[in-house]
Amino acid sequence: HLQQTGPRPIILVGMMGAGKTTIGRQLARELKREFMDLDHELEARSGVRVSTIFEFEGEQGFRKRESAVLDICSRQTGIVLATGGGAILSEANRQIIKDRGIVVYLCATVDELYRRVARDRNRPLLQTADPRARIQELLQAREPLYEEVADVRFETGSAPVHHAVRHLLSLL
Ligand code: S3P
Repeated sequence: HLQQTGPRPIILVGMMGAGKTTIGRQLARELKREFMDLDHELEARSGVRVSTIFEFEGEQGFRKRESAVLDICSRQTGIVLATGGGAILSEANRQIIKDRGIVVYLCATVDELYRRVARDRNRPLLQTADPRARIQELLQAREPLYEEVADVRFETGSAPVHHAVRHLLSLL
């Protein structure tokens, strides 16, 4: 079959609130690349919000759609692609991410993650009595999976986004 040529996509992985979308967008601008966000693509293609998909199809239904969109988007060369926090849960997805991308794991502390997502209603996994504990749980379970796919690990703290992007660029 035809092989696409061009620079591998830079794929950002990490927890909700790690800064994948914010940093990804600026990184793309600096590199003069197109930016794509997996959740956003999924919403655009299905015409409904992530929270609605969870409501009607459950997490399993969402994961199926997410895998399909990942497979499509990750074939595009020369882009920066932000994935959803759970995109690394499936083995098949991890393989795709490793094979096709230059992978950056954006990490942050539980407190920092919580601070950034505390009021977001479009994150169904955090609609619980204790979202901070939930974040801690998810991070614990997922950390090894993020590490497994990552070429570069990058800590996002309280530094301004443009500093983070500058620093990250020097690592790529
Ligand atoms: C999820 C993260 C979300 C979104 C969905 C599930 C997760 O994306 O895909 O709510 O399992 O961590 P962000 O990481 O962009 O918030």
